[in-house]
Amino acid sequence: MCVLVCGGAGYIGSHACVALAERGHRVVIADNFSNSSPRVLLRLQRIIGAPVECERLDLRSKSAVARLFARHRFDAVMHFAALKAVGESFAQPLAYFENNICGAINLLRAMHEAGVARLVFSSSATVYGDPQSVPINEQARLDVTNPYGRTKLVMEQLIDDLCGTDASFRAANLRYFNPVGAHPSGLIGEDPSGIPNNLMPYICQVAAGRRSKLSIFGDDYPTPDGTGIRDYIHVMDLVRAHVAALDYLMRGEGNLTVNLGTGRGISVLELVHAFERASGCSIPYEIVARRRGDVAQVYADPSLAHRLLGWRTRLDVHAMCRDAWRWQSINPDGYQRPLGKLKSLPLDAIETKA
Ligand code: NAD
Ligand code: UD1
Repeated sequence: MCVLVCGGAGYIGSHACVALAERGHRVVIADNFSNSSPRVLLRLQRIIGAPVECERLDLRSKSAVARLFARHRFDAVMHFAALKAVGESFAQPLAYFENNICGAINLLRAMHEAGVARLVFSSSATVYGDPQSVPINEQARLDVTNPYGRTKLVMEQLIDDLCGTDASFRAANLRYFNPVGAHPSGLIGEDPSGIPNNLMPYICQVAAGRRSKLSIFGDDYPTPDGTGIRDYIHVMDLVRAHVAALDYLMRGEGNLTVNLGTGRGISVLELVHAFERASGCSIPYEIVARRRGDVAQVYADPSLAHRLLGWRTRLDVHAMCRDAWRWQSINPDGYQRPLGKLKSLPLDAIETKA
């Protein structure tokens, strides 16, 4: 199959390209590199063993998307391309709606016109807002608390409407919990620009000496150690679920909306200590005030994904920390560093370097 991966140069999309290629699919990336680097392409080539096709384009341009579909015959689409910073979405709601909704509508229209009827969509646990109880299953009340989350909810609803009106159209809304970690080669990973908003990349940068200490946002939550609990999921497990979801759609079994998490909640302090054990680095931290909008506990009931897709996570928090640290330590400045010497090393040598 030929799969269009929108946002395939980004953190999760690049890992999905690897999983798709391993499954034997041809991959075409479409990305405007607004939050990624073209340098990821050489690294993907290094991992996959063949060049990855990539088209630089902005999904907000209807004509560019139409031209893309005129040039290729896609069997399915994975749609990762979105803006994702919660804080920024409060400051720029129009930009978020334009990018995440208008861009996706252009994509859906082009798919419709080209008769491409299989879509895997990146949604988020953010659609549950402040959950009434944990673990969260897919029947839980949907209640977004920020403009970014609203774009995800609107897109899920629009996709559901399309599935309802076009019987040939099949889609999977995948609600990610907290993706972390990196490909075991350390060649691709999460490369946030500026100060990381999320916990794992921040910890990595403290370990690498780029930041002096971690600020832990509150230790007075009603959790065993007082810090916030989340469901961290290894990005390799996450993208394996995408391939399973695509298989499910191709079998014509129906549409899907499922949580992707481990089902296990981990506190901020537990993650810090797991990282220290996996990396051998110490992570200085201080407890500061709670972050606005944070909630005490968010973790998934992932049993529906297991029932429908036969998928469950395999990698534990040690593997998440080990692989995040390998990526960070090989690439202290993310994709700023050219592939250089890494290019000629056998992959297993890179894997054992960190
Ligand atoms: P990312 O920013 O690393 O990747 C997104 C990619 O899409 C980037 O390469 C960016 O350049 C591209 N892009 C954005 N807008 C575009 C446009 N208009 N046209 C073309 N390309 C565009 O983000 P990620 O962490 O890989 O997230 C992927 C998806 O998963 C997003 O939809 C995000 O909302 C969702 N998600 C992510 C997380 C997370 O913690 N990373 C959690 C839940 C959901
Ligand atoms: C956040 C977003 C969510 C988004 C997800 C992935 C909010 C409210 N939620 O989730 O919509 O889908 O990122 O992009 O922004 N923490 C610290 N110090 C830090 C960073 C985080 O203590 O420097 C704590 C947080 O308080 C939280 C936990 O670590 O308890 C995880 O935070 P984070 O990685 O930002 O993820 P979420 O808040 O779960």
